Amino acid sequence: MKLHIAVIGCGEFAANFVPLFQAHPEVESVCVCDLIAEKAKVYSERFDVPVIPSFEDALDDENIDTVAIFTQRHLHGPMVVQALEAGKHVYSAVPMACTPEECGAIIEEVKRTGKTYMMGETCIYYPCSMYCKEAYERGDFGKFVYGESQYFHDLSHFPTDFKNDRPASAVPPFYYPTHSTAMLLYALGAHAVKVSAFGYRDTEENTPYAVGENPWDNEFSDEFSLMQLSNGGTARISECRRIGYKAPSSFISGFYGTEGAYQFNNAQHLYTKLTKAGVDLTDVSDRVNPYVMTEHKNDPDFKQKVANHTWQWNGFSPVQDAERERLPESFREMPNHNGHMASHQFLIDDFCTAAANGKLPRVNAWLAARFTIPGLIAHESVKRGGELLGIPDFGDPPSEE
Ligand SMILES: NC(=O)c1ccc[n+]([C@@H]2O[C@H](COP(=O)([O-])OP(=O)(O)OC[C@H]3O[C@@H](n4cnc5c(N)ncnc54)[C@H](O)[C@@H]3O)[C@@H](O)[C@H]2O)c1
Repeated sequence: MKLHIAVIGCGEFAANFVPLFQAHPEVESVCVCDLIAEKAKVYSERFDVPVIPSFEDALDDENIDTVAIFTQRHLHGPMVVQALEAGKHVYSAVPMACTPEECGAIIEEVKRTGKTYMMGETCIYYPCSMYCKEAYERGDFGKFVYGESQYFHDLSHFPTDFKNDRPASAVPPFYYPTHSTAMLLYALGAHAVKVSAFGYRDTEENTPYAVGENPWDNEFSDEFSLMQLSNGGTARISECRRIGYKAPSSFISGFYGTEGAYQFNNAQHLYTKLTKAGVDLTDVSDRVNPYVMTEHKNDPDFKQKVANHTWQWNGFSPVQDAERERLPESFREMPNHNGHMASHQFLIDDFCTAAANGKLPRVNAWLAARFTIPGLIAHESVKRGGELLGIPDFGDPPSEE
C-alpha cells in the first residue's frame, strides 16, 4: 500500500527529505506540520504540500498512515511511542530516544502493532563504514580487535538558530551518539556490552554546556568512551562539540583485526594486510572517497578543501555503487537531492520500501536501540568519573519470517 506521510518538524533538516518522500514510488502523499505555523507555511510553499495543523491532528487523521519525525533531538522517544500507539509507521531522525526505557517502549510498540519503525542513521552509509563492512565480511581483517570512530561537530559550525536552541544544541554529546556508534557497530554486526567514559568540561565564555544552561545541567562538550563489544573487540568512540576541527566530521579512523587494518585521515584511506615480511599496504582512497573528491585529488588545495567539508555532501563514492542499483529511477534524476555523504536517498528508500511492503527496515528498532543506548550509558559513566557500566540490550531483531 502506498504511503501517506506527515512530516513533523519543518526545521533545517527535514527540507532535505520532503522532496525524496514526494519522489518515492511507494509514496502517495506528503503533508507537513510544525509547532510554529510560519515554518510549516514556508515548507508548504517551497514544496507545494498541504499543512496539517498539529502532530496530534496527524495522529487522528485516518488518511495518514505514516509520520516522519524531524523534531529536536531530545523529543523523539515519546513522540515515536505516541505515533506507533496511534497505528502509524514511523520514520525518526536520530537519535532513537533519551532513555533506555523509551527505546524499550518503542520496541514493544513495534512488536505489538507490527508497524514499521526506522531510525534514519545517515552514517551506516558513510563510505568509510561501508568499506569496513565490505572488507570485514570478506575476511580482509581476520577477527576484529579494535576500532575508533567519532562524530566531531564544533559548536562554531552549528547554524545560529540551532546554537540558540540550547535544549537541542547542549544535549549531552553522548545523548546524540548514533553517528559514531553506528559506523563501527553496523560494519561489525556487533553491539556494545560495557562502557567506561570521560568528558571534557567546557569553560568557554557563554557556553551552553554548564549547570543551569540546559535541561540536563550538562557541563560536557566532548565525551570519550571505551566500549567492550559482543565480539570480544574494543571500540574507542567519541562525540565532540568543542573541538578545533571540521571535516571529515563522522569517520572511522581505525579498524584493526588479527590479519589486517584500515586507517583514515583527511582523504587518505589505507588498508594493510599482515604478511610474513611485514605488511602489504594498499591505498584504497579512490574506492572510498566520493567520485567528485577523487576528480580533484591533484588540486594544490585538495587537503585544505577536504578539511573544510567541500565534497562530502551529495556525491556518491564507488563503495556505494552496489547499493545505488536499488534506488528508484526517480531518485536518479535528483542528484542534488541527497546529502550527508549521499546517504539521504538510501535512507528514504530503505524506509518507504520497508513500510509499504511490511518488511523490517535496515535500521529497525532493535538496531536503533543498539546504536543509541551505549551513548546514554556512556554519558552516565562520564558523570560518574569513568565508572565501568553494563549496557542494556534488547536483543536481535526478529528474522524476516
Ligand atoms: N545526519 C543526521 O542524521 C542529522 C543531521 C541533522 C539533524 N538531524 C536530526 O534531525 C532532527 C531535526 O533537526 P533540525 O536541525 O531540522 O532541527 P530544527 O530545530 O531546525 O527543527 C525542528 C523543528 O521541529 C519543530 N517541532 C518540535 N516539536 C514539534 C511538534 N510537537 N510538532 C510539530 N513540530 C514540532 C520545531 O518547531 C522545529 O521547527 C533532529 O532530531 C536532529 O537530531 C540528523
